[in-house]
Amino acid sequence: MLCISLEKFLFWKKKQLSKGGDQASFAVLLDCIGGISNRDLYLVKINPEKNLLLKKNLEFLESVWDDHLLKSCPIQYLCGITFWRDLKLNVTNKVLIPRPETELIVDIVFNIFRNKSEKLYFAELGTGSGAIGIALALAYPFSDGVATDIDQDALEIASKNYINSSQQSNLKFYCGNWWSPLESFKGKLDLAISNPPYIPRDTYEKLPKEVKNFEPKIALLGGDDGLKHIREIILQAPLFLKEKGWLILENHFDQSEKVKELLIKSKFTSIEIVKDLSGIGRFTIGRYK
Ligand SMILES: C[S@@+](CC[C@H](N)C(=O)[O-])C[C@H]1O[C@@H](n2cnc3c(N)ncnc32)[C@H](O)[C@@H]1O
Repeated sequence: MLCISLEKFLFWKKKQLSKGGDQASFAVLLDCIGGISNRDLYLVKINPEKNLLLKKNLEFLESVWDDHLLKSCPIQYLCGITFWRDLKLNVTNKVLIPRPETELIVDIVFNIFRNKSEKLYFAELGTGSGAIGIALALAYPFSDGVATDIDQDALEIASKNYINSSQQSNLKFYCGNWWSPLESFKGKLDLAISNPPYIPRDTYEKLPKEVKNFEPKIALLGGDDGLKHIREIILQAPLFLKEKGWLILENHFDQSEKVKELLIKSKFTSIEIVKDLSGIGRFTIGRYK
């Protein structure tokens, strides 16, 4: 640990932020590599000694920050860590960095299944870093969850994240195309959740370079109209959900009405479009009959 005065640290911090980048990314760098959280910083400010302890020296932290600014590489990949809800997750460029707006999907589940002691059977399709599946398995300790992904590397990261976040053993990981690894769960699921790749091809081509050059294409591209994977998930969902089981999907900002139509065609009821914090119809949910 390196001891440094608050004054020197704040001067250095101001200089780094003046080069570019945003406060939130800088906070991730300080927390994950420097070992200083926002809370630690606050506590140092009100402490008369005004010294703080860093895990790495300022030169090293600065080199990572410069790398981030120069290459537009997301700071989470450079640090190997991201924060999502109350989880600290490992991430590499094999998995999408879970987004803040996706955090709401867990609250949607909380609103539907209010009893946390309930024994739920749930599946998360396309788990990536494992964020959603892990949050649900922790919140519903008596549930049995499965999390799938087509990418074995992603699943390895997700299962490592689960082991790091939990003493529990109620989440299993399976590799394969959407529902295909879940044959033994046919007709048994109370709930299936997915944040599938939903970006239309022409939008994908124009994504900012910090996304397109670093995040996995397989996690983003949803075919020509963005709905390729959503269609496939909805079509097969009735085989896997219990009667009255729920399907909760995240979609692109302008896809909710189309996703609603697809759900209606597959005989879903209680269909609802749920807005994210920016007022965008980000989630479409329904019950199978
Ligand atoms: C948008 S990311 C979501 C990751 C994570 N659930 C989250 O919300 O941050 C979509 C995930 O679906 C996976 N995926 C893509 N195609 C798939 C397929 N055909 N079958 C299963 N998973 C797939 C990707 O590997 C990726 O991890």
